[in-house]
Amino acid sequence: EKFAMTETVKIFDTTLRDGEQSPGCTMNLKEKLQVARQLEKLNADIIEAGFAASSKGDFTSIEEISKIVTNATVAGLSRLVENDIDLSFDALKNAQNPRLHLFIATSPIHMRYKLKMSPDEVLSSIENSVKYAKTKFSDIEFSAEDATRSEFDFLIRALNTAIKAGATTINIPDTVGYSTPLEFSAFISKILENLVSPEKITLSVHCHNDLGLATANSLAAVKSGARQVECTINGIGERAGNAAMEEIVMALNVRNNFYNAKTGINTQFIVPSSRTVSAVTGSVVQPNKAIVGKNAFLHEAGIHQHGVMENKATYEIMTPEEVGYKEQQLILGKHSGRHAFENWLTENNHVVTKEEEKELFKKFKQLCDKKKTITERDLEALVQNKISVGEEKYKLKRFVINVGNTITSTAVLTVSAGGKDVEDVAIGDGPVDASFKAIEKIAGVTPELDDYNIRSITQGVDSLGEALVRLKYNGRYFKGRGLSTDVIEASIFAYIDAVNKLEAVISKEGTENEN
Ligand code: KIV
Ligand code: ZN
Repeated sequence: EKFAMTETVKIFDTTLRDGEQSPGCTMNLKEKLQVARQLEKLNADIIEAGFAASSKGDFTSIEEISKIVTNATVAGLSRLVENDIDLSFDALKNAQNPRLHLFIATSPIHMRYKLKMSPDEVLSSIENSVKYAKTKFSDIEFSAEDATRSEFDFLIRALNTAIKAGATTINIPDTVGYSTPLEFSAFISKILENLVSPEKITLSVHCHNDLGLATANSLAAVKSGARQVECTINGIGERAGNAAMEEIVMALNVRNNFYNAKTGINTQFIVPSSRTVSAVTGSVVQPNKAIVGKNAFLHEAGIHQHGVMENKATYEIMTPEEVGYKEQQLILGKHSGRHAFENWLTENNHVVTKEEEKELFKKFKQLCDKKKTITERDLEALVQNKISVGEEKYKLKRFVINVGNTITSTAVLTVSAGGKDVEDVAIGDGPVDASFKAIEKIAGVTPELDDYNIRSITQGVDSLGEALVRLKYNGRYFKGRGLSTDVIEASIFAYIDAVNKLEAVISKEGTENEN
């Protein structure tokens, strides 16, 4: 009988590039570094850190991420132009294992309308650019954008040109999420049959979720021989998103008997990573989302609960613990000292400055006064909240709100603005609206409220509330988070946090324009 060897599938994470690229998911440098650290804990094989030529910010992110990542390969995206390749090379100069990710579209519609290039021009561009890149990089990935809508013979010519010129990974993106599992599986097999030297390269797939098939298509490709999967945490990304890392990893884990393939991901960091990405992007995970949704391991029906009590495997194909859910227990409390708190931070690999630690400890003590039991989840939320705070021009001092069902809500806020206390009052449709308007008056800006969410971090009436605010101003997004046992206060914190970020960007651009 044939003995099936377990194959290894590399995880190429693009949360910081394709994920970050989607509207409302932008991250600042500090947030990106926080995600990169999380990706290292997960043991992702490749971390795509950005697209150096797209902006100065992206260039710097790749540069800084390269400095802190020790195990994973760090990839930079690049078009087939020398300037892009040179910029990627500079941005990746500190990476232990740098990878250049080159891409060009190969479908008729993209070549004609977007690139305005003939197929022959595309082929020579691939040859010249990969050869040029090879003088600077040994690890080169080539992506044929919109591969699933490309003419097959032309696609193969493009891929073989890239291989002959020195590409070491060949990526097949389903850029618009058009493919379906059976079709994609056959497509991958046929590509492997037609490559000049399939044994010398790693075949990769990159699936988008427009039809909700990104995970299914990626897995179908693995079954056909793909050995790298590109994905993002929580499946964030352009439009309907990318394939979700947690789904790919757990499917290969739970159904190893079917796929005979595994990844090197440390699954116990899946849930913490999902929370980090959700916190820094402000994009909330749907409750019924596989693996990382709030309800993913809840058993509601009586029959199910009974089954699970008798034997967990009746309704659980994996355990919540193996993906990183922890028993919510009291770990630190009112009487815990600074030392115990520091220990908790170190044990959980939270990197914070001395200043931040002092601030966090103060907040922890304040929380102890308001909440009966402090769980691990509360502490995690505190730390994540602190880390996502940028430059702070405005700080809340006090607020008084008058609410009632027969009166107009009035909010009076005192905010320290650059060290000086400023007070203003506003009326609004409810306490949150009134408070937001008062902040706008104080800061002298009127952004559009693009998104507003409030959720509880833990259970119970004294649970911590987390507010997420996303503002739109001059076509750009600014997000803020706020944490408090009082949801109105959490909302005010979140709004001020977003306004601070907006303020930081505007004032920086102001000085840049003056120069
Ligand atoms: O979806 C896509 O085609 C991409 C490429 C740049 C790989 O993101
Ligand atoms: Zn993509």
